[in-house]
Amino acid sequence: MTRIEMFTGKGGVGKTTMSVATALQHAQSGKTLLISTDPSGSLSQIFSQALDQQVTEVASNLDAVELTRKQVLALWRAKFGDEIYTVLSSFLPVGREIIDYIEGAPGIEDEFMLDYLLTKAQSTVYQTIVWDTAPTVTTLNLLFIQQLFYSHLTQAQKVYLKIKGVFTHVDPLSLINKWRHLTAQIIEMLQTQTTAWVVANPERLPVEQALTIAASLTTFGIGVNGFILNKMLPAELCGTHPFWQAKFESQQRWRERMSQAAGGQMVKEIPELSGERMAHGLLEEVSELLGKS
Ligand SMILES: Nc1ncnc2c1ncn2[C@@H]1O[C@H](COP(=O)(O)OP(=O)(O)O)[C@@H](O)[C@H]1O
Ligand SMILES: [Mg+2]
Repeated sequence: MTRIEMFTGKGGVGKTTMSVATALQHAQSGKTLLISTDPSGSLSQIFSQALDQQVTEVASNLDAVELTRKQVLALWRAKFGDEIYTVLSSFLPVGREIIDYIEGAPGIEDEFMLDYLLTKAQSTVYQTIVWDTAPTVTTLNLLFIQQLFYSHLTQAQKVYLKIKGVFTHVDPLSLINKWRHLTAQIIEMLQTQTTAWVVANPERLPVEQALTIAASLTTFGIGVNGFILNKMLPAELCGTHPFWQAKFESQQRWRERMSQAAGGQMVKEIPELSGERMAHGLLEEVSELLGKS
């Protein structure tokens, strides 16, 4: 079974850096896929090749893909557009433009992203999928609401079809049941195959957001591996100037807060490194540090 390791946390804290470093590590022991759905994604720049069209090999044993909103919506339309029209037009007087309206609904692309992830996980090509993602709490909420919604929709359809007596073409009920099954599979994938790292920097907002995200993930039944506290200032540097000393002390307070709130959960610490942005050296160093701590 493919293992999914997700990296989440506030923007700019180091999700992509941690994802890439981890994916490179996993690729040493088995075929690995790195998927980025972070809207401010930068995989293409890191690997210096276009990754927003399809899954591409970026290193030995490592494939990567960066899903943009536009691309996800196009995939969604191709896969579900006709089905949605069939179901809705079976009990509402709507034209095909209904697909455009639904495509514009908030969260649709995140949701389809989960379907994409499921396809990749079920393909059994990969030992590990590393998922670089923006906070997905709203998406997860949607997913569970949707489960309920489909149950109600099935009931409504049964009543409607009884009144109407007949229908033509594809059976809308079987489509709704298919969606319901798909949603159940996605939930199961998240609860049994997926674990999460929550990344933060030692500052107020990233730490508070990380704790909120971790709590929601736990509520949804997604295993939290622990936290990564990234960009810690090294103590030996900070005695040299009051500015750095104050910054260091503030970081230490947020570090304390994090480890208290984390309870028994692991908190890995990664120092602020001086390497070039996303240069190979920096990634290798992070990879090593993640393995060590
Ligand atoms: N430990 C670190 N030391 C130095 N620079 C880092 C470190 N971690 C991340 N960075 C840099 O910080 C920036 C944001 O990191 P990134 O991984 O893109 O964050 P996110 O994906 O959460 O938005 C990038 O320029 C990255 O190279
Ligand atoms: Mg990113």
